[in-house]
Amino acid sequence: MRTIVRYTRRPQGIYGQLNRLHDQAGSALSRRDRIVKGKNTRLLNRREFSGLCAALGSFVTSSGAFALDAATGAASTGAGRTVKFRDGTIVPALGQGSAGLGKGRHPVAEEEEALRTGLSLGMTLIDTAEIYGSEEFIGRVIAGQRNRVFLVSKVWPSHVTGNGIARACEASLARLGTDHLDLYLLHWPNRVTDFSHVVRAFEDLHAAGKIRAWGVSNFKVSDMEKLFQIPQGDRCATNQVPYSLDDRGIERGLLPWCERHGMPVMAYSPLGGPGASLLRDPTLARIGAAHGCSAAAVALAWSIRSGNVFAIPESGSVAHVKENAVALTLPLTPQELQTLDAAHPPPSR
Ligand SMILES: NC(=O)c1ccc[n+]([C@@H]2O[C@H](COP(=O)([O-])OP(=O)(O)OC[C@H]3O[C@@H](n4cnc5c(N)ncnc54)[C@H](OP(=O)(O)O)[C@@H]3O)[C@@H](O)[C@H]2O)c1
Repeated sequence: MRTIVRYTRRPQGIYGQLNRLHDQAGSALSRRDRIVKGKNTRLLNRREFSGLCAALGSFVTSSGAFALDAATGAASTGAGRTVKFRDGTIVPALGQGSAGLGKGRHPVAEEEEALRTGLSLGMTLIDTAEIYGSEEFIGRVIAGQRNRVFLVSKVWPSHVTGNGIARACEASLARLGTDHLDLYLLHWPNRVTDFSHVVRAFEDLHAAGKIRAWGVSNFKVSDMEKLFQIPQGDRCATNQVPYSLDDRGIERGLLPWCERHGMPVMAYSPLGGPGASLLRDPTLARIGAAHGCSAAAVALAWSIRSGNVFAIPESGSVAHVKENAVALTLPLTPQELQTLDAAHPPPSR
């Protein structure tokens, strides 16, 4: 019952080490402390998670992750890379998206198992939205373990007038089976003419304890500047935008703007979006082979390299989630980062 990861073949490289350390951390813990949520999935409680962090800490040191830190200045703890919000809240640099989950792409039990696997491997931020139709699905997965999850949802722009944001939030909370969101985002700025109304509604929800923080999504620099001119607009925690090796547009203006304002950026579609087209890139596969991990892990490690970006890859596959979690501790060398720049050049300024 103890083992979360089952293999027909022992995995090699960083991926294998990560999972073996996960097992070792678990084996030191008493049966009483174990929480079993599914046939093959074992979730860590806080004490177990600390044990895993300690174990992964030695792994990070011994595998040379500090090379990446020296090269990029990215934040890293024993549990892997993290990102800090301006209010001091620290979240893992990798979370899990859910726009396509619960829609029959994979068997529902596998998708639930995939999300639980991600949680147990440290990808504890889960992103959803009222329009995804995945909130009830996520509610089932996080039932009984809400306090391990950093839960993000979004309100659709057509719901912002009147008390629409409060109503949408209540409906999301009910579907998710929780009394609060850790982060609530405005999904798009389009057709929203009065950001000050949105900020007031978010601040009211914050004061009522329904949300711990709020932010935006798909905002351009000009939208961010408008937002920051509004009273309390600068309390925005993050901007969720597309970002991957195939889509580096935000490096031109938005990313530096957010860095100047100390605001982390949440990268969506970090694998190139549905179908993960980016993963066909042979450069990623080559670098992955050198590390004994997948192209996906390399793509994700690249996206979170700065310490100011966290990424929310989506997967309904247990095997893919295990590959993705490797990125939390994957060291990319300055030479590898240069090779990736050559294959996927940054936008000209
Ligand atoms: N704010 C917004 O407007 C917005 C827009 C788009 C997305 N998002 C958020 O961002 C999340 C992620 O974005 P996304 O779904 O567009 O793109 P993505 O995460 O870049 O790619 C998802 C695709 O990658 C595949 N995949 C995942 N891990 C893989 C691996 N290790 N190997 C091979 N394939 C893998 C998935 O298939 P499998 O399931 O088979 O693994 C799925 O087809 C969404 O779920 C959503 O939460 C937000």
